[in-house]
Amino acid sequence: MTEQATYSLHALELGPMENFIYLIHDLHSGRAAVVDPAWDIPEVLALARAQDMNITDILLTHSHHDHINGISEVLAHFDAQLHLLKAEAQFWGRQLDLPTLHHGGDCIRLGETAIEVLHTPGHTPGSACYRVGHELLTGDTLFVFGCGRCDLRGGDPEQMFVTLRRMAERLPATTVIRPGHNYAEKDTSTLDEQVEGNPFMQFDDAEHFTRYRMHYHDRHRHAPYGPVRRGEAMPE
Ligand SMILES: [Fe+2]
Repeated sequence: MTEQATYSLHALELGPMENFIYLIHDLHSGRAAVVDPAWDIPEVLALARAQDMNITDILLTHSHHDHINGISEVLAHFDAQLHLLKAEAQFWGRQLDLPTLHHGGDCIRLGETAIEVLHTPGHTPGSACYRVGHELLTGDTLFVFGCGRCDLRGGDPEQMFVTLRRMAERLPATTVIRPGHNYAEKDTSTLDEQVEGNPFMQFDDAEHFTRYRMHYHDRHRHAPYGPVRRGEAMPE
């Protein structure tokens, strides 16, 4: 018997940095969670209205400006609860109005839909991925055939190496990746396709990963990201 999904997932590509803003819509209750609200909030609200969604929750993958600049505009229309990892709130240092601060492994209930919170440091200390059904909203941790940069404040390539390795080991290969930016030749992928073709998932040690992440890979040179054959990401 196939399990009926309790939710539908909508993606909007918005703003000058090709951000994906997602709406998780619990079909039973009509509740919705907006993930990383930013840029063109009227467009987010129009979609919510058209689908009769009640936005009750805001989920942040991390605190960078391009993922959060629409929070107050959403809150002007909906009385929504803000969710982020405690580690990210501490890193961010901004005074937040009654947020729910999570730890990795927490579960957020959205009506009949369960959303698991994963702590995935590397891009920022409190970066989160949200797992719903067979899908994983990866923010700036994992992109399709790429990963988030680790050279900004709070970034750590060794942590990113461990994070990506854990994802590959612990999540089902069929997991569908929903990234925070549209930097690749396609907007979604599966974990097994990423383990195979994402250069950042092909390194066996943190040292080579770090060299590739910090000194070799360049978004402007490599975008749109596509698959790389194992061993061919970086010249020796
Ligand atoms: Fe970011």
